[in-house]
Amino acid sequence: MGKVHVLDHPLIQHKLTYIRDKQTGTKEFRELVDEVAMLMAFEITRNLPLQEKTIETPVMEAQTKVLAGKKIGLIPILRAGLGMVDGMLKLIPAARVGHVGLYRDPETLQPHEYYIKLPSDIADRELIVIDPMLATGGSANDAIHSLKKRGAKQIRLMCLVAAPEGVEVIQNAHPDVDIFLGALDEKLNDHGYIIPGLGDAGDRLYGTK
Ligand code: PRP
Ligand code: URA
Repeated sequence: MGKVHVLDHPLIQHKLTYIRDKQTGTKEFRELVDEVAMLMAFEITRNLPLQEKTIETPVMEAQTKVLAGKKIGLIPILRAGLGMVDGMLKLIPAARVGHVGLYRDPETLQPHEYYIKLPSDIADRELIVIDPMLATGGSANDAIHSLKKRGAKQIRLMCLVAAPEGVEVIQNAHPDVDIFLGALDEKLNDHGYIIPGLGDAGDRLYGTK
């Protein structure tokens, strides 16, 4: 079963509070999501492999370490996942970015895929699927299925806020996928919204309603 990691760094928790606050306007919401995505990228890359490198400092030769060149792919789920891409690219600038377009039908809560464009070598990359919200889990589940169908082998999922219901769906459908969260909330309400949550992530990011 995939592990759930709640990234409870104080800066992430602090910024999440203001992301959740309904008084926070679009500009500030977008900035905060960008900052939290960068902090989460720092945590999610802790296990990246290193290799030895010999360099000359101004004083002497030294054995040091550099990243072993693991290939990473970021896969935002449109729309709201886009809000987290730039923050992550600040720390992992060489990552390739693939896009999966999904929207959740407000009545049935079922996801509908409308777009997909991926790097050609996803089978060789460690993929991080990005979406601020993991609610019923339908969207992330579909996105991960789509990636696997196209050859993806190593996938992790990163979300700002999740409901236990969505976590369970991913753990059952994709036991090979670890989940990284800013917060694990209480539950879903009758409309499939995470509570306490932060509302509709896409609408708050882009000022739509
Ligand atoms: C939101 C969110 C997730 C999905 C989560 O997207 O960004 O993709 O809902 O819900 P689920 O876990 O129940 O599938 P939405 O469908 O509102 O589209 P948007 O990002 O374009 O606003
Ligand atoms: N999608 C959102 O944007 N927010 C939720 O709480 C649930 C799904």
